[in-house]
Amino acid sequence: MKREIKPDIYAVGAIDWDRKLFDELIPLPDGTSYNSYLIMGNEKTALIDTVDPNKTHELIKNLEESEKDIDYVIAHHAEQDHSGSIPEVLKRYPDAKVVSTPKCKTMLVDLLHIPEDKFMEVNDGDTISLGNKTLEFIHAPWVHWPETMLTYLREDKILFTCDFLGSHLATGKLFVEDEGMVYEAAKRYYAEIMMPFRTAIRKNLEKIKDLEIEMIAPSHGPIYRNPEFIINAYREWVSDDVKNEVVLAYVSMHGSTAAMVDYLINALMKKGVGVKPFNLTVSDIGELAMALVDAATIVIASPTVLAGAHPSAIYAAYLANALRPKTKFASIIGSYGWGGKMDEQIAGMIKNLGVELIEPVIIKGYPREDDFKLLDKLADEIKKRHEKTVGRGK
Ligand code: FEO
Repeated sequence: MKREIKPDIYAVGAIDWDRKLFDELIPLPDGTSYNSYLIMGNEKTALIDTVDPNKTHELIKNLEESEKDIDYVIAHHAEQDHSGSIPEVLKRYPDAKVVSTPKCKTMLVDLLHIPEDKFMEVNDGDTISLGNKTLEFIHAPWVHWPETMLTYLREDKILFTCDFLGSHLATGKLFVEDEGMVYEAAKRYYAEIMMPFRTAIRKNLEKIKDLEIEMIAPSHGPIYRNPEFIINAYREWVSDDVKNEVVLAYVSMHGSTAAMVDYLINALMKKGVGVKPFNLTVSDIGELAMALVDAATIVIASPTVLAGAHPSAIYAAYLANALRPKTKFASIIGSYGWGGKMDEQIAGMIKNLGVELIEPVIIKGYPREDDFKLLDKLADEIKKRHEKTVGRGK
């Protein structure tokens, strides 16, 4: 079903209510949508992004409702959830040109085998006139691939942002109504997809700051009629400010590490430090990623298995390292039976974080009184470092 956003501007994408995993990796508890937009000028018509290949039939049906030829397919991003239906669109509309950055063109040629003569490359700041409507292209690399761009529809003051500022959220609402719900979905999206590119995102936020924007239309999730809501959320997430919180990612085999974790949780709470524990055997990695967006400290807790860390702790360390949150401090706690280098292994895996490592607490067997004292000391140290850092953007 095609839905009107403003006169001559329609949402023609698809809602994927059932999708629960992206990239065979990222949990999507709330499904997602692949938004595509049809803009009909009085001379030309443009389609902004397409949909995931498994929803091509829905896009085509929606386009057929308009009975308009398509002159331009704007490809903001080469990833297949937005580009995958372009070949089918080109079959239906053989005169259409694919408008993209030069980098996106090379990627679409490689990924979808679209012939080179189908493309129109655009540079940063270029425009295309649809008659009474003007599309202005804004190169915005690394949100989250290198080829990405945005489109600003000048007359209607709509910014089309593809993945940027979007949310994995399947909803029948075309526009954001419940900002609290969308905030959570957008934060999860940022954490899982955008966080490693925090510096690039800052630059891109700067690039759009002087645009007069009435609406932000991403290619996932509902449209923002209050653009400041999502722009301010992003500003906060990409800033250097951290919260007085510890993300405690743990796994325990026989209860020794779990006893340390329980003790540390209480010690931190007593000192007024927020703590978010994640039992890695049952946790949603998306929630772990969200917690990492603004926590000051990460503590990884693991038993020792075959002289190293438990594979679940390795996975958490790998994930945190890859997502590059703005976390400032880290520590490692855990227990061993007869030896091993679990803490060195984990510390070696989180180099990307650039954190200050607080002295790990590694003990033999089940924790004794002296071991709990070491955990008190760790909680003290975390509190002290937070007091010097939280709210200071350092
Ligand atoms: Fe929604 Fe990067 O694709």
